[in-house]
Amino acid sequence: MRAVVRTADGGPDVLRVDEVDTPSPGDGDVLVRVAAAGVNRADLLQRRGHYPPPKGVSETLGLEVSGHIEAVGAGVTTWSVGDPAVALLAGGGYAEYVVVPAGQVTSPPEGVDLLSAAGLIEVAATVVSNMDHAGLRDGETLLVHGGTGGVGSFAIQYAKARGCTVATTAGSDAKLAVCRDLGADIALDYHGDWVAELKEATDGRGVDVILDIMGAKYLGPNVASLARGGRLVVIGLQGGVKGELNLNALLTRNATVTATSLRFRPTEQKAEIVARVAESVWPLISDQTIRPAGETRFALDDVRAAHEHLESGDNVGKVILVV
Ligand SMILES: NC(=O)c1ccc[n+]([C@@H]2O[C@H](COP(=O)([O-])OP(=O)(O)OC[C@H]3O[C@@H](n4cnc5c(N)ncnc54)[C@H](OP(=O)(O)O)[C@@H]3O)[C@@H](O)[C@H]2O)c1
Repeated sequence: MRAVVRTADGGPDVLRVDEVDTPSPGDGDVLVRVAAAGVNRADLLQRRGHYPPPKGVSETLGLEVSGHIEAVGAGVTTWSVGDPAVALLAGGGYAEYVVVPAGQVTSPPEGVDLLSAAGLIEVAATVVSNMDHAGLRDGETLLVHGGTGGVGSFAIQYAKARGCTVATTAGSDAKLAVCRDLGADIALDYHGDWVAELKEATDGRGVDVILDIMGAKYLGPNVASLARGGRLVVIGLQGGVKGELNLNALLTRNATVTATSLRFRPTEQKAEIVARVAESVWPLISDQTIRPAGETRFALDDVRAAHEHLESGDNVGKVILVV
């Protein structure tokens, strides 16, 4: 089969499409014939050698795909050859075929084009699992950083669908306008004093939950923005891994700081998350309560251009590789 091969750690030019062995499904796995693969920021890190896959997982990049079931392994009764499917992966998606545990596969949401469906499961699973982890309750106030990114644009709409007040940050007036279109109640330029502006916009109260992608750089500002009983979930480290935490700021708020990674969760947990997404999020996409925030498509052979585009910072929504 054809797959994207990483020849070294480095920039987009270390990627090339080559012939490799087609994998075979083991017990409990399915083989998916890939129609399209979602490109995620984590793939850029892995390409540079900073985010190796979990042990035993394919070295090929790619955390999510759409396609059709090509073959099923022993013990799989939930899928038949030819079924359309989307899959949450720990790796291996930038290829014509990928093997995945059957529980990490679900049907695409009704009414969504199969190629577009490739870019939904990673962000949906990330947002839903982390909002569950933070115990987000309907009607609470959420701050999500990077409101026009893949995760951010989805999180805004998911929280709005749950009746939450949503604050978000973005880096330009044009992107702030996109955030408001997506439903954000409070849209803040992250180049400015967003902590003070958020405080004012929430009448000094702060927010109940923060979904953070910046890590160390925003640790202090995020904790300062939490309401009493607030929960900060760190899922991205774009602003570094080591920060200083003022425990008194945490203590006086009865607040919680936590961090999670979807990729490193055990298969059973991923299967539970995928089932929850299919049950609770796919209907919101099918009835257009959640509208995926646009996408830019590249052919598999143009994988370098796809990475350059995502890395440029000009992207809004998802980047999809059409296989
Ligand atoms: N832990 C997990 O399980 C997990 C799962 C999925 C994703 N993630 C992580 O989540 C992050 C977002 O993923 P994604 O797919 O949404 O990436 P993406 O589409 O590339 O979005 C990146 C976002 O970062 C924002 N950003 C950059 N600098 C910022 C700053 N100083 N303050 C606030 N926002 C800033 C960008 O905003 P502008 O465009 O406005 O500059 C953009 O919205 C990545 O770090 C990814 O690795 C983690």
